[in-house]
Amino acid sequence: MTQKSKKTKRHNRTKINFALDIVLALIFVFGMEVYFTGIPLHELLGLFFAVGLIVHLLLHWDWIVALTRTFFKKLLHQSRVNYVLNAALLIVVVAMTLSGIVISQTLGLSLPMADSTYLTWSTVHALSAQLVLVLVALHIAMHWRWIVTNSKKYLFIRPNTRQQQVSSKQTPFGRRAIREQAHE
Ligand code: HEM
Ligand code: HEM
Repeated sequence: MTQKSKKTKRHNRTKINFALDIVLALIFVFGMEVYFTGIPLHELLGLFFAVGLIVHLLLHWDWIVALTRTFFKKLLHQSRVNYVLNAALLIVVVAMTLSGIVISQTLGLSLPMADSTYLTWSTVHALSAQLVLVLVALHIAMHWRWIVTNSKKYLFIRPNTRQQQVSSKQTPFGRRAIREQAHE
């Protein structure tokens, strides 16, 4: 594979990651507002979140494998902190999704259970969702620089970039720039 096609592939991969990360964040925010969405939509969003998350993990599979292999080699390292945070996040997200499925009312499951059992699972669900909120905030903080760089690249593309290039040519070499502009 040539250097250029490798670069394009990496660029496309970043674009996909970026789009998926935004979708995940949005689903999560609406998922937290169950009384706004209503239970049926909430349960669907929760399932979409789980599917999106699996894709998110698959897209970072190389990172997961590499870090799992080298985890015990170095003691303190930023990616190690990141790894522990990601592992905690995974456990709590699984708890949130499973407890959500157990108390689900509209997916056709409606598992029979005593009120007290329902209450316990519903508490697990609510608490794990709050914990996920805190951990996702930390997760986002750990990737803040990546988010800012790619937001600038993909979200805030300045419309007059080309015009700006031309006017910047004008400043030091006034006449030449005007001549070049005439040829463009
Ligand atoms: C609202 C949900 C989430 C958002 C917005 C989010 C966002 C991000 C961002 C911005 C990155 C770095 C850029 C990238 O390559 O995509 C990332 C990487 C990663 N995320 Fe998430 N993430 C979320 C949930 C999770 C969860 C629940 C896990 C579970 C373990 C997870 C695991 C990972 C892993 C393993 C990486 C790559 C390694 C790393 O750099 O930390 N993410 N995520
Ligand atoms: C993005 C993932 C999810 C988030 C952030 C989330 C968050 C929440 C929150 C904050 C509540 C309100 C808890 C309370 O204060 O009582 C709730 C309730 C509920 N969730 Fe989820 N949830 C998610 C996924 C799911 C899934 C996948 C299901 C089922 C398939 C589900 C089913 C329910 C049900 C039935 C309730 C109502 C519980 C009750 O009031 O008795 N959730 N969820």
